[in-house]
Amino acid sequence: MRPLLFAANWKMQVTPEETRRFAGQFLGATAPVEGRALWFFPSAVSIGAAAEAFGTRSDVRIGAQDVHWEPKGAYTGATSVPLARGAGASGALVGHSERRHVFGETDEETGKKVRALLDAGCTPFLCVGEKLEEREAGKTEEVVLRQLRAGLAGVSPGEMDGLVVAYEPVWAIGTGRNATAEDAARVHMALRAEVSRLGGTGRIPILYGGSVNLGNALGLLAQPQVDGVLVGGASLDPDGWAEIVGIGG
Ligand code: 13P
Repeated sequence: MRPLLFAANWKMQVTPEETRRFAGQFLGATAPVEGRALWFFPSAVSIGAAAEAFGTRSDVRIGAQDVHWEPKGAYTGATSVPLARGAGASGALVGHSERRHVFGETDEETGKKVRALLDAGCTPFLCVGEKLEEREAGKTEEVVLRQLRAGLAGVSPGEMDGLVVAYEPVWAIGTGRNATAEDAARVHMALRAEVSRLGGTGRIPILYGGSVNLGNALGLLAQPQVDGVLVGGASLDPDGWAEIVGIGG
């Protein structure tokens, strides 16, 4: 079976205590599966608890939901890469649609965050995705390829396999509407082709996110272009998430 990556984005919920309880239940319900990597992206305050609670499982890694590009300084409220690393993270989401569209993160900032993560030996999960009006105007590829190029602006071809890309159409996040598996595969193919055009090998893992659940995950993962899923709501229940990460295995 080809390698698959299952990523849980807990957004602004799950306390340290809830994280420990989740881990106990989830680890009891699952065992490592060859070729499957599991990532959890808790709130910054729960990274330490997650790193400790999942620590025994070699297939689990912890990431931050966002990082600042500067290693330290007067940036109240922000989390630097060294802070996230120190708490137990070995990667981070960059340019999640909520960072872009709720907090105004720019394409240029995503590029700086990707660079800061790579410099620290951490894995950037570069998120891209179009808004509904952009999709309806036929601009999906134009938007996601622009976001991809900006995120990779400071990355050399040799480093590109060290990233993960996540395609999350904004209109599919938390709405119960998801792209069809074929739609997702088409966008993933365009993203992969662009990475190759920029000099990468094109082997970069590309995840799909946006209303993924137990009912649609198998169909998405059946697409050879889809290397895994980035999941919000359906990753919050330990038993439900255990079922999803075990799908088809
Ligand atoms: P949902 O799975 O809740 O739609 O969230 C997707 C997401 O934003 C993951 O990063």
